[in-house]
Amino acid sequence: MNPIILGIESSCDETAAAVLHGNRVLSNIVATQDVHAKYGGVVPELASRAHQGNIVPVVDAALKQAGIALKDVDAITCTIGPGLMGSLLVGLSFAKSLSLALNKPLIGVNHMQAHVLAHFIGDTPEQRVPEFPFLCLTVSGGHTQLIRVNGPLEMVVVGETIDDAAGESFDKAAKLFGLPYPGGPHLDRIARTGNDSAFQFARPKVPGLDFSFSGLKTSLLYLVQHEQKQNPDFIASRLPDLSASYQKAVVDYLLQVLERAAHTEGLRTVALAGGVSANSLLRERIQTLAKENNWELFIPPFGYCTDNAAMIGIAGYYLYQSGYRNDLTTRPQARMSYH
Ligand code: KG4
Ligand code: ZN
Repeated sequence: MNPIILGIESSCDETAAAVLHGNRVLSNIVATQDVHAKYGGVVPELASRAHQGNIVPVVDAALKQAGIALKDVDAITCTIGPGLMGSLLVGLSFAKSLSLALNKPLIGVNHMQAHVLAHFIGDTPEQRVPEFPFLCLTVSGGHTQLIRVNGPLEMVVVGETIDDAAGESFDKAAKLFGLPYPGGPHLDRIARTGNDSAFQFARPKVPGLDFSFSGLKTSLLYLVQHEQKQNPDFIASRLPDLSASYQKAVVDYLLQVLERAAHTEGLRTVALAGGVSANSLLRERIQTLAKENNWELFIPPFGYCTDNAAMIGIAGYYLYQSGYRNDLTTRPQARMSYH
């Protein structure tokens, strides 16, 4: 019998809940917190408060949309890390109280593992899923990781950023350009009309399969400061070219390390995950690279790339099937290694 899983996500600035029947999504609700836009980044205290306000209506909406009563839920799964402590605490405390009141198992999910497992959400019976082992490039606002996925619960980080995350590098560039937070999607949109070879940025050099994005961000800052001395309206007058050139630099670099990792790990099945996989240039360019390398490529639908609770539900499903359980002493983990 396939279990009914309630998934709850509250690690950053999205309050989300989903109901899954086995690997199939019955509902998937995301409440985005607009409160942070005017601060140019997520304000942790405001995020926790918004989660507190959102969590009951969001879970309620997910259950209603799925047509599932709480008593029919087989397990309560929620993100326990990595993320903002206060935000995680809201989701976990709520999940614990449901688990206690309903006498149903509590399962704590690693958010990064869930991004990878989003590939296994089975919305249609004919859907292709990656075969193990495969290589996953997980690119989000807080993380950039290359993961060797040996099984649903067997993941090894083979490379990661030593400073900023890819999404963070987009968001910081967008902030410099005066775009609202989170800036990644705005930069993506504006870049479409720009010339991507208008400006050059030095390619970061990091040994092995790790990444570094802080140098790219700094070289953008220096370029802008230098040009603004001659032309105070430099950003406004060159915004599409700046966006396109910077986006190209980030995407080229991500793909260069991904290609190296696929060779090093000897893997030809490659997947993309996390919020930045919504980036149109990255999606387009990774497909070309996959063809050149004869990779089998997997990219989740947009709704499963950015933060959502369906991915928490699918990760919870695999953990549930494996017998993994958490108890009420479980604490959120701002930093977290893999299960
Ligand atoms: O996975 P996610 O929703 O949240 C985290 O776990 O961090 O990723 C959010 C990140 C943000 O940095 C956002 O700017 C970026 O994903 N992002 C994009 C695009 N859509 C979302 N970056 C570039 N282009 C996009 N289209
Ligand atoms: Zn995420």
